[in-house]
Amino acid sequence: MDKAKIILDKDFIISKVDEKVFSSFVEPLGRCIYGGIYEPGHVTADQNGFRQDVLELTKPLNITLNRFPGGNFTSTYRWEDGIGPKELRPRRAEVAWQCIETNEFGLNEFADWSKLNGSDVMMTVNLATRGVLEAMDCVEYCNFQEGTTLSDLRISHGYKKPHGYRYWCLTNEIDGVWQVGQKTGTDYGRIAREASKAMKLLDENIKTVLAGSSSPSQNSFPSFDAAALEESYEFVDYLSIHQYIGNAKDDSPNYLAKTLITDNYLKTAIATCDYIKAKNRSNKKVNISFDEFNTWHSIAEEKRFSNKWQVAPPLLEDTYTMEDALVLGGMLMAVLKNADRVKIACVSELVNCISHIRTRNGGGAWVLPPYYTFLLFSKYARGTSLMINVNSPKYDSTDFTDVPYLDAAATLADNGDISIFAINRSMEEVLPLETELRGFENYIVKEHIVLKSEGAKDTNTEECPNNVVPQNNGNAQIDGNKLVAALPKLSWNVIHLEKMK
Ligand code: AHR
Repeated sequence: MDKAKIILDKDFIISKVDEKVFSSFVEPLGRCIYGGIYEPGHVTADQNGFRQDVLELTKPLNITLNRFPGGNFTSTYRWEDGIGPKELRPRRAEVAWQCIETNEFGLNEFADWSKLNGSDVMMTVNLATRGVLEAMDCVEYCNFQEGTTLSDLRISHGYKKPHGYRYWCLTNEIDGVWQVGQKTGTDYGRIAREASKAMKLLDENIKTVLAGSSSPSQNSFPSFDAAALEESYEFVDYLSIHQYIGNAKDDSPNYLAKTLITDNYLKTAIATCDYIKAKNRSNKKVNISFDEFNTWHSIAEEKRFSNKWQVAPPLLEDTYTMEDALVLGGMLMAVLKNADRVKIACVSELVNCISHIRTRNGGGAWVLPPYYTFLLFSKYARGTSLMINVNSPKYDSTDFTDVPYLDAAATLADNGDISIFAINRSMEEVLPLETELRGFENYIVKEHIVLKSEGAKDTNTEECPNNVVPQNNGNAQIDGNKLVAALPKLSWNVIHLEKMK
């Protein structure tokens, strides 16, 4: 294989990486909460029912925001169902996932769990089947100091200090035909504008996220987003978009190339915001909240709804493999490449459903290969995203031409260290990499961490949890301003360069 070349230049930067791109998503879906983060009676559960074995896996991810409760779940959710004495909470038929929701776990339980996890909460209000008033009520309950019925109710529930949530999603995926309460961009934009306005009147510190397209494959992208923004631009702060990538045809080279869509999707969403900005002659900048993204395979309806009307059945529990770890890496690097405008990014979801952390009810907890992609990203991508010039040998796949074998991004930490993230998409060959470091002097290779495995479908199980784990055994070497490395086939690499004092 010909070598790939990267140029990094000290003066060419994209932007500071926002801490909120290291975020995740927790939805009361299947066993994400029940049997995932919460399982009273589990041998590791604390007095609140929070599984400590799961917390031991979520904490190292250093998640900034946890989006809650959704998700399609939001569209018929009454947030009041999940507060107050547990024995009085209603059981509901939850139509999005065709389950029984006991409401044993609500927003206060999530506040407690998030605190233990070291993360903040990004709340979602239901504007699909509810309205401005219910959204205001939720803000009042969560954020108002005291002296009103709802803030005093929160205090009576044991939460004297307001939760003080800053980030609020104005409903979820309302462009989708599967959504109860689907709306046109214009209709949605109007209600989102009024809700956002009212919520900010209650708490001037909050920032709101407009629900944009649920997928780049929606025919209504980006016109839905433009129509919703047109109604609400001056009143909202972020545009939410979502993307899940699948490999339905089991065509790995093509699957690995699909992250090219992510970059294009983000850029089109940014351009849509800027188009409305220009149209409005506005000075305001609306940024992107990429608040659901991941790979997803088990979408088939029959699988999804085979366990109707049960409490917390196993749903959407994909067995993610090495190739999923690489696709996730490509999505995360697309976030870095657009760091000037993507200010929130939530990997979806945190436990069991479409997740890289798996549990067994009453049993163990383990992680799948993409867990490590995100873990390394969260550890090394903090700082400033650098512009990266990539020149790579290419291949053609079923749907794409000229796919670079190398996908790469880089960050400069506040202490001067550099991290280079690199994927070799080749299924067969090692990719030689040469990097020119312009204006960066006195660096040594501190670590070259490699996540790889023999087969694209290799994974971890409860019995063999360490089949695919990252190792600090890459061969990157630096000589002056030139770094060379051999990237193993199908690998996710983090090359960490330390600045010598
Ligand atoms: O994450 C699972 C689902 O995917 C979410 O509920 C929804 O927003 C998206 O379609």
